[in-house]
Amino acid sequence: MDVVICRDAERVGEVAADRVAQYLAGIPTPVLGLATGSSPLRLYAELARRVAAGTLDVSHGLGFALDEYAGLDPAHPESYRSVITRTVVEPLRMDPARVRVPDGTAPDLQAAADAYDEAIAAVGGVDVQILGIGSNGHLGFNEPFSSFSSRTRVKTLTPQTRADNARFFTSPDAVPTYCVTQGLGTIMESRAAILVATGERKAAAVAAMIEGPVAAVCPASILQFHPRAVIVIDEAAASGLA
Ligand code: F6R
Repeated sequence: MDVVICRDAERVGEVAADRVAQYLAGIPTPVLGLATGSSPLRLYAELARRVAAGTLDVSHGLGFALDEYAGLDPAHPESYRSVITRTVVEPLRMDPARVRVPDGTAPDLQAAADAYDEAIAAVGGVDVQILGIGSNGHLGFNEPFSSFSSRTRVKTLTPQTRADNARFFTSPDAVPTYCVTQGLGTIMESRAAILVATGERKAAAVAAMIEGPVAAVCPASILQFHPRAVIVIDEAAASGLA
Protein backbone atom coordinates (compact mmCIF):
# COMPACT_ATOMS: atom_id res chain seq x y z
CA MET A 1 0.00 0.00 0.00
CA ASP A 2 1.48 3.35 -1.09
CA VAL A 3 0.50 6.43 0.92
CA VAL A 4 0.81 9.91 -0.58
CA ILE A 5 0.20 12.88 1.72
CA CYS A 6 -0.64 16.11 -0.11
CA ARG A 7 -0.74 19.65 1.22
CA ASP A 8 -4.47 20.12 0.51
CA ALA A 9 -7.58 18.64 -1.04
CA GLU A 10 -6.97 20.22 -4.42
CA ARG A 11 -3.55 18.58 -4.68
CA VAL A 12 -5.16 15.23 -3.70
CA GLY A 13 -7.34 15.49 -6.81
CA GLU A 14 -4.36 16.25 -9.06
CA VAL A 15 -2.13 13.49 -7.67
CA ALA A 16 -4.93 10.92 -7.81
CA ALA A 17 -5.70 11.96 -11.41
CA ASP A 18 -2.02 11.48 -12.30
CA ARG A 19 -2.20 7.94 -10.93
CA VAL A 20 -5.43 7.14 -12.76
CA ALA A 21 -3.95 8.43 -16.04
CA GLN A 22 -0.74 6.46 -15.44
CA TYR A 23 -2.60 3.21 -14.73
CA LEU A 24 -4.91 3.63 -17.74
CA ALA A 25 -2.15 4.48 -20.22
CA GLY A 26 -2.03 1.90 -22.98
CA ILE A 27 -5.28 0.15 -22.02
CA PRO A 28 -7.53 0.45 -25.10
CA THR A 29 -10.80 -0.23 -23.27
CA PRO A 30 -10.22 0.77 -19.66
CA VAL A 31 -12.59 -0.46 -16.99
CA LEU A 32 -13.10 2.04 -14.19
CA GLY A 33 -14.58 1.32 -10.78
CA LEU A 34 -16.37 4.43 -9.60
CA ALA A 35 -17.00 5.71 -6.09
CA THR A 36 -19.56 8.40 -5.37
CA GLY A 37 -19.72 10.77 -2.38
CA SER A 38 -17.74 13.98 -1.92
CA SER A 39 -14.21 12.53 -1.78
CA PRO A 40 -13.60 11.78 -5.47
CA LEU A 41 -15.22 14.96 -6.82
CA ARG A 42 -11.94 16.85 -7.23
CA LEU A 43 -10.38 13.80 -8.86
CA TYR A 44 -13.28 13.56 -11.33
CA ALA A 45 -13.08 17.31 -11.99
CA GLU A 46 -9.36 17.02 -12.71
CA LEU A 47 -9.93 14.04 -15.03
CA ALA A 48 -12.66 16.07 -16.77
CA ARG A 49 -10.23 18.96 -17.19
CA ARG A 50 -7.77 16.62 -18.90
CA VAL A 51 -10.51 15.18 -21.13
CA ALA A 52 -11.50 18.72 -22.15
CA ALA A 53 -7.84 19.57 -22.80
CA GLY A 54 -7.45 16.47 -24.98
CA THR A 55 -4.77 14.85 -22.80
CA LEU A 56 -7.02 12.02 -21.56
CA ASP A 57 -9.60 9.97 -23.43
CA VAL A 58 -11.86 7.52 -21.60
CA SER A 59 -14.69 7.71 -24.13
CA HIS A 60 -14.22 4.02 -24.99
CA GLY A 61 -14.03 3.04 -21.35
CA LEU A 62 -16.41 1.06 -19.23
CA GLY A 63 -17.51 1.99 -15.73
CA PHE A 64 -18.95 0.15 -12.74
CA ALA A 65 -20.19 2.15 -9.79
CA LEU A 66 -19.38 0.79 -6.36
CA ASP A 67 -22.82 0.99 -4.88
CA GLU A 68 -26.38 2.26 -5.01
CA TYR A 69 -29.14 2.94 -2.52
CA ALA A 70 -31.85 0.27 -2.48
CA GLY A 71 -35.39 1.38 -3.14
CA LEU A 72 -34.47 4.85 -4.37
CA ASP A 73 -35.83 5.85 -7.78
CA PRO A 74 -32.82 6.00 -10.17
CA ALA A 75 -34.21 9.35 -11.35
CA HIS A 76 -33.87 10.79 -7.82
CA PRO A 77 -31.12 13.44 -7.94
CA GLU A 78 -29.20 11.69 -5.14
CA SER A 79 -29.43 8.16 -6.52
CA TYR A 80 -25.92 7.04 -7.36
CA ARG A 81 -27.11 6.53 -10.94
CA SER A 82 -27.85 10.27 -11.09
CA VAL A 83 -24.66 11.23 -9.26
CA ILE A 84 -22.47 9.10 -11.56
CA THR A 85 -24.17 10.57 -14.64
CA ARG A 86 -23.61 14.12 -13.35
CA THR A 87 -20.08 13.79 -11.98
CA VAL A 88 -18.49 11.14 -14.20
CA VAL A 89 -20.34 10.15 -17.37
CA GLU A 90 -21.07 13.64 -18.66
CA PRO A 91 -17.85 15.46 -17.66
CA LEU A 92 -15.61 12.55 -18.73
CA ARG A 93 -17.59 12.11 -21.98
CA MET A 94 -18.19 8.43 -21.33
CA ASP A 95 -20.91 6.46 -23.06
CA PRO A 96 -23.83 6.20 -20.58
CA ALA A 97 -24.68 2.75 -21.94
CA ARG A 98 -21.22 1.55 -20.89
CA VAL A 99 -21.37 2.79 -17.30
CA ARG A 100 -23.30 0.54 -14.95
CA VAL A 101 -24.62 1.20 -11.47
CA PRO A 102 -25.99 -1.59 -9.24
CA ASP A 103 -29.74 -1.90 -9.66
CA GLY A 104 -31.31 -0.82 -6.38
CA THR A 105 -34.89 -1.25 -7.56
CA ALA A 106 -34.74 -4.74 -9.12
CA PRO A 107 -37.54 -7.07 -7.96
CA ASP A 108 -34.85 -9.57 -6.94
CA LEU A 109 -31.99 -7.46 -5.60
CA GLN A 110 -29.64 -10.38 -4.96
CA ALA A 111 -30.11 -11.77 -8.48
CA ALA A 112 -29.31 -8.31 -9.86
CA ALA A 113 -26.26 -8.09 -7.58
CA ASP A 114 -25.02 -11.49 -8.80
CA ALA A 115 -25.51 -10.34 -12.39
CA TYR A 116 -23.46 -7.22 -11.58
CA ASP A 117 -20.48 -9.30 -10.43
CA GLU A 118 -20.85 -11.45 -13.54
CA ALA A 119 -20.86 -8.34 -15.74
CA ILE A 120 -17.61 -7.13 -14.15
CA ALA A 121 -16.03 -10.54 -14.67
CA ALA A 122 -17.29 -10.70 -18.27
CA VAL A 123 -15.31 -7.59 -19.23
CA GLY A 124 -12.17 -8.93 -17.58
CA GLY A 125 -12.40 -7.10 -14.25
CA VAL A 126 -11.78 -3.54 -13.11
CA ASP A 127 -8.51 -1.88 -14.16
CA VAL A 128 -8.65 1.04 -11.73
CA GLN A 129 -10.97 1.17 -8.73
CA ILE A 130 -11.56 4.65 -7.34
CA LEU A 131 -12.52 4.64 -3.67
CA GLY A 132 -13.41 6.87 -0.74
CA ILE A 133 -13.56 5.84 2.90
CA GLY A 134 -16.41 6.26 5.35
CA SER A 135 -15.82 7.96 8.69
CA ASN A 136 -16.41 4.48 10.16
CA GLY A 137 -13.87 2.85 7.83
CA HIS A 138 -16.38 1.50 5.32
CA LEU A 139 -15.32 0.79 1.75
CA GLY A 140 -18.11 1.04 -0.79
CA PHE A 141 -21.00 0.44 1.55
CA ASN A 142 -19.25 -2.46 3.24
CA GLU A 143 -19.88 -1.38 6.77
CA PRO A 144 -17.74 -2.53 9.73
CA PHE A 145 -17.74 -6.32 10.16
CA SER A 146 -18.45 -6.98 6.48
CA SER A 147 -16.84 -10.17 5.23
CA PHE A 148 -13.51 -9.70 3.48
CA SER A 149 -14.61 -12.23 0.86
CA SER A 150 -18.01 -10.64 0.21
CA ARG A 151 -19.46 -10.17 -3.27
CA THR A 152 -21.96 -7.59 -4.51
CA ARG A 153 -24.98 -7.82 -2.23
CA VAL A 154 -27.63 -6.02 -0.21
CA LYS A 155 -26.42 -4.35 3.00
CA THR A 156 -27.98 -2.27 5.74
CA LEU A 157 -26.46 1.18 6.21
CA THR A 158 -25.33 1.97 9.74
CA PRO A 159 -26.89 4.91 11.59
CA GLN A 160 -23.52 6.69 11.27
CA THR A 161 -23.43 6.33 7.47
CA ARG A 162 -27.04 7.48 7.20
CA ALA A 163 -26.21 10.50 9.37
CA ASP A 164 -23.06 11.22 7.31
CA ASN A 165 -25.08 11.13 4.08
CA ALA A 166 -28.05 13.12 5.41
CA ARG A 167 -26.44 16.23 3.89
CA PHE A 168 -27.44 14.98 0.44
CA PHE A 169 -31.13 14.56 1.36
CA THR A 170 -33.92 16.80 2.59
CA SER A 171 -33.92 15.15 6.03
CA PRO A 172 -32.01 12.38 7.84
CA ASP A 173 -35.10 10.15 7.56
CA ALA A 174 -35.02 10.47 3.78
CA VAL A 175 -31.67 8.62 3.60
CA PRO A 176 -32.37 5.06 2.47
CA THR A 177 -31.72 2.28 4.98
CA TYR A 178 -30.54 -0.36 2.53
CA CYS A 179 -28.08 -0.41 -0.33
CA VAL A 180 -26.48 -2.70 -2.88
CA THR A 181 -22.70 -2.61 -2.75
CA GLN A 182 -19.80 -4.33 -4.41
CA GLY A 183 -18.30 -6.68 -1.85
CA LEU A 184 -14.83 -6.38 -0.39
CA GLY A 185 -13.88 -9.50 -2.37
CA THR A 186 -15.11 -7.80 -5.55
CA ILE A 187 -13.18 -4.61 -4.80
CA MET A 188 -9.99 -6.55 -4.00
CA GLU A 189 -10.04 -8.11 -7.49
CA SER A 190 -9.41 -4.71 -9.11
CA ARG A 191 -5.97 -4.51 -10.70
CA ALA A 192 -5.25 -1.11 -9.12
CA ALA A 193 -7.05 0.81 -6.38
CA ILE A 194 -6.85 4.52 -5.63
CA LEU A 195 -8.45 5.74 -2.40
CA VAL A 196 -8.83 9.47 -1.79
CA ALA A 197 -9.66 11.03 1.58
CA THR A 198 -9.58 14.61 2.82
CA GLY A 199 -10.36 16.44 6.03
CA GLU A 200 -9.92 15.77 9.71
CA ARG A 201 -13.27 13.96 9.83
CA LYS A 202 -11.57 11.03 8.09
CA ALA A 203 -8.38 11.03 10.19
CA ALA A 204 -9.31 8.19 12.57
CA ALA A 205 -10.59 5.92 9.80
CA VAL A 206 -7.52 6.65 7.66
CA ALA A 207 -5.18 5.80 10.56
CA ALA A 208 -7.05 2.54 11.21
CA MET A 209 -6.90 1.65 7.51
CA ILE A 210 -3.18 2.31 7.14
CA GLU A 211 -1.69 1.56 10.55
CA GLY A 212 -4.27 -0.63 12.25
CA PRO A 213 -4.52 -4.38 12.02
CA VAL A 214 -6.30 -5.80 8.97
CA ALA A 215 -9.60 -6.34 10.72
CA ALA A 216 -13.27 -6.31 9.79
CA VAL A 217 -13.91 -3.50 12.27
CA CYS A 218 -12.22 -1.27 9.65
CA PRO A 219 -13.20 -2.76 6.27
CA ALA A 220 -10.83 -0.44 4.36
CA SER A 221 -7.87 -2.07 6.16
CA ILE A 222 -8.22 -4.94 3.65
CA LEU A 223 -6.44 -2.63 1.18
CA GLN A 224 -3.21 -3.42 3.06
CA PHE A 225 -3.43 -6.74 1.17
CA HIS A 226 -4.18 -5.18 -2.21
CA PRO A 227 -1.25 -5.71 -4.59
CA ARG A 228 -1.51 -2.21 -6.08
CA ALA A 229 -3.29 0.24 -3.81
CA VAL A 230 -2.44 3.89 -3.36
CA ILE A 231 -3.96 6.08 -0.67
CA VAL A 232 -3.94 9.79 -1.55
CA ILE A 233 -4.82 12.03 1.40
CA ASP A 234 -4.42 15.60 2.54
CA GLU A 235 -2.60 16.66 5.72
CA ALA A 236 -5.83 16.87 7.71
CA ALA A 237 -6.84 13.29 6.83
CA ALA A 238 -3.26 12.19 7.65
CA SER A 239 -3.32 13.86 11.07
CA GLY A 240 -4.11 10.62 12.96
CA LEU A 241 -1.11 8.74 11.56
CA ALA A 242 1.73 7.93 13.95
C1 F6R B 1 -19.72 5.82 -2.19
C2 F6R B 1 -18.88 4.99 -1.38
C3 F6R B 1 -18.57 5.35 0.03
C4 F6R B 1 -17.95 6.73 0.14
C5 F6R B 1 -17.71 7.08 1.60
C6 F6R B 1 -17.13 8.46 1.77
O1 F6R B 1 -19.83 5.26 -3.48
O2 F6R B 1 -18.47 3.99 -1.84
O3 F6R B 1 -17.67 4.40 0.56
O4 F6R B 1 -16.74 6.77 -0.56
O5 F6R B 1 -18.91 7.01 2.31
O6 F6R B 1 -18.09 9.40 1.39
P1 F6R B 1 -17.70 10.93 1.25
O7 F6R B 1 -16.66 10.96 0.18
O8 F6R B 1 -18.95 11.62 0.83
O9 F6R B 1 -17.18 11.35 2.56
